[in-house]
Amino acid sequence: MAEPSNDDQWREREPVKWQEAFARNNEMFGEAPSAAVVRASEMFRSRGLTRILELGAGQGRDTMFLAQMGFDVHVLDYTPEGTRRIAEKAAALGLSDRVTVVLHDVRNPFPFASETFDACYSHMLYCMALTLEELRRLTENIRTVLHPHGLNSYTARHTGDPHYGQGVQHGEGLVEVGGFIVHFFDRKTVESLAEGYRIIDIHEFEEGGLPRRLMQVTLEKSAVDASVGGRNG
Ligand SMILES: C[S@@+](CC[C@H](N)C(=O)[O-])C[C@H]1O[C@@H](n2cnc3c(N)ncnc32)[C@H](O)[C@@H]1O
Repeated sequence: MAEPSNDDQWREREPVKWQEAFARNNEMFGEAPSAAVVRASEMFRSRGLTRILELGAGQGRDTMFLAQMGFDVHVLDYTPEGTRRIAEKAAALGLSDRVTVVLHDVRNPFPFASETFDACYSHMLYCMALTLEELRRLTENIRTVLHPHGLNSYTARHTGDPHYGQGVQHGEGLVEVGGFIVHFFDRKTVESLAEGYRIIDIHEFEEGGLPRRLMQVTLEKSAVDASVGGRNG
C-alpha cells in the first residue's frame, strides 16, 4: 500500500535525481529505440509529418532513431547530463543537422513560435512529477506549437502497472516509487487532457523487466481553436 508523505521538498529533488542517474549510467534506458517511438514514427510518416518536438528525451535512444529515420527533431529536457549526451551522440552519428537540443523545464512556456512543429513525441514524460494542472498547461503549450491537425503522441505508465499502489504518495496520483516520482494515468486522466484535440488512438504496451505497463496516447490538434468559441473538429 502507498504511504502518504509529509515531505514538501520532493519536487525540487526530481531534476537532481535524473541528472545524477544519467551521470551514473550512460544508457539508462538502453541504446535501442523504444516500441513507442517506432509506432509513433510510422504514424508520423504515414501523414507526411517531418518536424518533430521531443520532450523528456533522456539520453536520446528515441531521438537518434527519429533522426536516423530522416525526421528533423527538436529536443527539450531539463537535465544538463541528458542534453549533453544527446548532442554528443548526434555528433558521433553525423546527425547534428537533424537534432537540436535545448535544456528546458517543460513546466515553463516553450521557446518556440506557434505552429512550429508537425508533431510532438514524448515517452514517459507525461508520467513524471507533473500535477494535473501542469499537464493541462503542458498539453496546451504543445497544442500551440503544433500545426493544425498536428499530432501529440505521448506515453504514460498506467494504473495497471505493477508499481501502482506502492511507494510514497504525494497526492493527485503522484507516487514516489523506484526512486522517482510517477504519475499513474487512467482513462479519465487521458480524457481530461484532450481538450482542443481529438483522441485518435490509445494503445497499451509493456516495457522493461518489471514490466512497466504503459499507454501510448495519440492526440490530433483540432483544426478550429476551441478557446475562441469554435467547434472542435
Ligand atoms: C523516464 S525518463 C524517459 C527518457 C526517455 N524518454 C526514454 O524513454 O529513454 C523521463 C525524462 O523526462 C525528463 N523530465 C522529467 N521532468 C521534466 C521536466 N519538467 N522538464 C523537462 N524534462 C523533464 C527527465 O530528465 C528524463 O530525461
